[in-house]
This record gives sequence, C-alpha cells and structure tokens, in this order.
Amino acid sequence: MLLEVRDLHVEFRTRDGVAHAVNGVSYAVDAGETLAVLGESGSGKSVTAQAVMGILDTPPARVTGGEILFQGQDLLKLKEDERRGVRGARMAMIFQDALSALNPVLSVGDQLGEMFTVHRGMSRKEARTRAVELMDRVRIPGAAQRVRDYPHQFSGGMRQRIMIAMAMALEPALIIADEPTTALDVTVQAQVMDLLAELQREYRMGLILITHDLGVVADVADRIAVMYAGRIVESAPVHDIYKAPAHPYTRGLLDSIPRLDQKGRELYAIKGLPPNLMHIPPGCAFHPRCPMARDVCRTDEPPLHAVSEARGSACHFWRECLHGPAH
Ligand SMILES: Nc1ncnc2c1ncn2[C@@H]1O[C@H](COP(=O)(O)OP(=O)(O)O)[C@@H](O)[C@H]1O
Ligand code: SF4
Ligand SMILES: [Mg+2]
Repeated sequence: MLLEVRDLHVEFRTRDGVAHAVNGVSYAVDAGETLAVLGESGSGKSVTAQAVMGILDTPPARVTGGEILFQGQDLLKLKEDERRGVRGARMAMIFQDALSALNPVLSVGDQLGEMFTVHRGMSRKEARTRAVELMDRVRIPGAAQRVRDYPHQFSGGMRQRIMIAMAMALEPALIIADEPTTALDVTVQAQVMDLLAELQREYRMGLILITHDLGVVADVADRIAVMYAGRIVESAPVHDIYKAPAHPYTRGLLDSIPRLDQKGRELYAIKGLPPNLMHIPPGCAFHPRCPMARDVCRTDEPPLHAVSEARGSACHFWRECLHGPAH
C-alpha cells in the first residue's frame, strides 16, 4: 500500500476550547488508485490531508494519535527536515485557490523551473526547458511564450493547470488535490478533472481527491471515503456507493446531487447543520440530522461495520439503509 492512514486524531486547542477535527480516521490509497474523500465543509477532510502532507499549523493543531504510513515509513516519526524531503519530491498537494498558492511576483516559468533547480540541481536553462514541457503537458496553449507570464495573467482554469504542473514536476508517488475545481465554473471543472485523472493514470500515481461534491468524482474515483464530524462514516468502491449507500449520510449526499433527468424538481438537502467540533453529539454524531435515527443512536457510537470485504459503514442500521426496511 502506498499510503495508509491509521486511526488518526487531530485536535485544535483554541481559546474557546478544543475542536476535535479528526477523530480516528483510517484510509488507504495504492499506486494508480484514486480515493475521493467526501463530506460537507468542516468535516475534517483538509485537516486530515494537511496531517498527511505535514503542513498542519502546529499549534493550534496537534496530532494526538495514529499513524501515517507512506511507502512503509511512519511520517509522524520523521524529523521536520526529513518530512520536508518527502514533500514535493514524493508527495505533492494541489489547493483550491491557485492564485494564493502561487507566488504573484515570480513568472510561472521561474516557479516551475525552481522545482528543478532546487530539487534536481539543474541549470536555469535546463529548468526553463522542463517548465515549458510541463506547461505543454498540462495543455496550456502557447507554453513557450506564456512561460514568462505571471500567475494573475492566466484564467482560473489555466492557473489550476499550472498548480497541477507544479505538483507533477518531480513525479511524486502521491498527489493530494484539495477541492481542485471548486472555484472554477462547471465546464472548466470537468476539463481540469479530466486532465488530473489522465495524468494520474499515465504516471500511476496515488491520488486523493478531496471534494464536497459527489457529482464530480463519479467518473474518476476508485473508492470513496465519506467523512462526517472528523470520522469516516462510509468507505466503499465508488460503484457500490452509487448503487446503494450503506449510510444515511451518504444517501443524503447522493440525493442532494442535481440530476439532469429531474430538472425542475426541488433539490433534496440534508436537514440541519454539521456539528460544532467542540461539542460533537454523543452516540452517532449524525443522529440530530438523521431521518433513520432511533434511541440507540443517541447513546451508542456505531463502529465501522464490515458491509463487505471492501466496504464499511458506521451506522447501526446499515442493513436497513442498504436494503430498505425489513417487512
Ligand atoms: N486553524 C484552525 N483553528 C481552529 N480550528 C480549526 C482550524 N482549521 C480547522 N479547524 C477545525 O477543523 C475542522 C475541520 O476543518 P477542515 O478539515 O478544514 O474541514 P473540511 O472538511 O471542510 O476540509 C473545522 O471545522 C474546525 O473546527
Ligand atoms: S447510527 Fe443511527 S443516527 Fe447514525 S446514521 Fe445510522 S441510523 Fe442514523
Ligand atoms: Mg477543506
């Protein structure tokens, strides 16, 4: 396995109290595989990813438990300089907001080139050639001329391609893309997602694709991990999830996707709001919003039940959710 996160815990100590952002997350990604991590805003998707990348703001964040095994090594046991060596070269991250992730006062050619001068010891001339190649690779038209341009001179979609090029530069084994298309309009979203999927296949990278939009991952993900209140509530091969969810929260997310064949119908929305992570409800954290909740849900936290060999659901009533109520 390329990456295995085991029982990860992260909390934020703030003046107002302790936010339990990640509460025992386990997931795994293999080479050549795409894992989509899904969940509403505030469910701990980014914090988990930042822990894997080693870029958490510590303090206020603190990893309080778990393991992050990457290529056989527990990253949490590495020193900061060893950790830095892993970042960029062996794993890289793509952020939602390319404009703030890129340096505004360096041309994109210089930024891409730096990857090669700093990490690979290439000359500036060689690095420039590689930068143009990369820009071609992510299909930026007129790469040889545009290599001199600055980030703000590119459209949102083209900037996101530059981010992808930066992440790909050193051919890392793992890429984490955190809402890479959320800021883009719908047609551009699909193009950028297709490009990312194509590169992932070609280089047999592991890809973690973080999104709050179940609609964008159907065609590209192999597996889906659904997060709620800092936990994985369902984890399954993508087709299983679309066929029938085994967790009421996943069902809610699926029912909230706009569908072309149901145009004009009022869109379903999960009632209520995600919990404050300083006060996570006891029992099943989803119970205040769950249409299937019963007394036991308010007191007993559901473990991740094995629905099948490749699938887990943290719901006491996963069978009912999957097959409908017993008659
Ligand atoms: N810098 C921070 N300070 C305090 N709490 C934070 C900070 N960043 C994240 N959190 C907490 O972690 C939770 C999960 O955040 P995040 O992982 O960014 O959610 P998302 O699933 O939207 O990516 C937030 O709801 C918040 O409670
Ligand atoms: S355990 Fe209960 S509250 Fe939680 S998702 Fe299942 S039915 Fe709903
Ligand atoms: Mg996020």
